[in-house]
Amino acid sequence: MAQLIDGKRLSNQVLQDVACEVERLRSEHNVVPTLAVVLVGEDPASQVYVRNKVKRAKEAGMGSILHRLDAGTTQGELNRLIDRLNHDSQVHGILVQLPLPSHLDEDEVIAAINPAKDVDGFHPLNVGALAAGQASLVPCTPQGCMIMLHRVMPELRGKHAVVVGRSNIVGKPMAALLLQADCTVTMAHSRTQEIESLCRNADIVIAAAGRPGLVGADWIKPGATVIDVGINAVEVEGTRKLVGDVAFDAVSRTAGAITPVPGGVGPMTIACLLLNTTRAARQQLA
Ligand code: GUN
Repeated sequence: MAQLIDGKRLSNQVLQDVACEVERLRSEHNVVPTLAVVLVGEDPASQVYVRNKVKRAKEAGMGSILHRLDAGTTQGELNRLIDRLNHDSQVHGILVQLPLPSHLDEDEVIAAINPAKDVDGFHPLNVGALAAGQASLVPCTPQGCMIMLHRVMPELRGKHAVVVGRSNIVGKPMAALLLQADCTVTMAHSRTQEIESLCRNADIVIAAAGRPGLVGADWIKPGATVIDVGINAVEVEGTRKLVGDVAFDAVSRTAGAITPVPGGVGPMTIACLLLNTTRAARQQLA
């Protein structure tokens, strides 16, 4: 059976480091790292994610401010809020929860955030810095995946990693980080041919396609490490359940190490968001 990579436990270790850094910033610089979270509309999954982010920030001793805007908010109104947060010296990190209602332009909103406060690492300047190996604010989910990978694979150099999914939020930055760690990286996606045999050659499979149970046991080389980024709500025998992109029960009999859903990548993402907020706060000193 595969080793279980416990995201809950690992994220608590990251959060302890975050709490120490929060205390240092407070005692040495009189700064309380503060995260502003913007939620537009009523998307139920987004409401849960946002509530969690705000709660964890408070637990780590940080400031957090939730701005809830109604679904009919205009681009101009949203841009004005971001502009205000950009100029508020008490706010160190800004996160606009995605997806936005369809009448709003996500790219425009992301580009409006001050790159120094872009704790998601989605601003084009931060995307470019990551591609050039100079990033200071790295997207949270891929950052969390790398911490998990390092735990079970101290030596990543030369390993073949396949990233399934090419989103801006996960797939693309994930590939950049793996490349930086000297992995040989293949990006696979919905149009990839012979994706199963491609994955079966990999030492590492990152499943970030948003398709429940996509990755089966026959996709995985015995002993490979499998990181499941998927969070999919499905109905199983009449009850709602969260499942990943990996068929967990089958794959855990083949893989060497695997992350569960829930309790895997999810808690790591939030921990890395708070880590980024302390980094942003430190960079904004002086
Ligand atoms: N929606 C799903 N994941 C994320 C994330 O990491 N950041 C933001 N802002 N929105 C998301």
